[in-house]
Amino acid sequence: MTPHISAKLGEIAETVLLPGDPLRAKWAAETFLDDAVCINQVRGMLGFTGTWKGNPVTIHGSGMGMPSLSIYANELISTYGAKTLIRIGSCGAMQESVGIRDVILAMTSTTLSTPSRGIMRELNYAPCADYGLLQAAHTSAASKGSKIHVGGIYSSDVFYDERPDLNEQMERHGILAVEMEAAELYTLAARHGCRALAVLTVSDHLKTHEALPAEDRERSFGDMVEIALEAAFR
Ligand code: HPA
Repeated sequence: MTPHISAKLGEIAETVLLPGDPLRAKWAAETFLDDAVCINQVRGMLGFTGTWKGNPVTIHGSGMGMPSLSIYANELISTYGAKTLIRIGSCGAMQESVGIRDVILAMTSTTLSTPSRGIMRELNYAPCADYGLLQAAHTSAASKGSKIHVGGIYSSDVFYDERPDLNEQMERHGILAVEMEAAELYTLAARHGCRALAVLTVSDHLKTHEALPAEDRERSFGDMVEIALEAAFR
């Protein structure tokens, strides 16, 4: 149906959760949705549609990095009519005050560049989360007892970063954490009149070098799925 998604029209819900990892999409759909059906497996990028409390939901992998996310988000929005897109993923903390397992709700995201740079040109566009989703996600995360941070993050193009001087500036300016997708998701959502949010769990710490133990990863991922679903339908 599109170059990267084989679902038929009508097989994708208006609410889409976007984990980076396609196997996480499968786990989340099988764990949290009723009647989940696989609607895409082109290039191994799995997507599932089912219902949550009677509401149609699609959970689809985004892949890693903004160019990959941009492909899926563009096709989900323009061809399939997605309206609410929530990234659920991990991030690396950049502040001492942020701890492993904490939940970060990204109000905005700083970048060096996004795939939208070509149309923004000299404009330093400030990608912004949907406030209603953010507020609802905060309520949901607080009810789970999560330690929550709301603020700016950094969407990087590289995982293996060789510019520690940039991290220093970001830390000085209060950036909470680094990941690799949110800025382009927010930009595309704004362009197409959609709602978007990134719900992130801190999986590693750039300053203390701690990492989330493997046994905690599934539980914190599950919490993010619930926070995203509760935010979407609150
Ligand atoms: N860098 C970029 N993306 C990430 C990181 C990181 O350290 N941790 C989790 N996602």
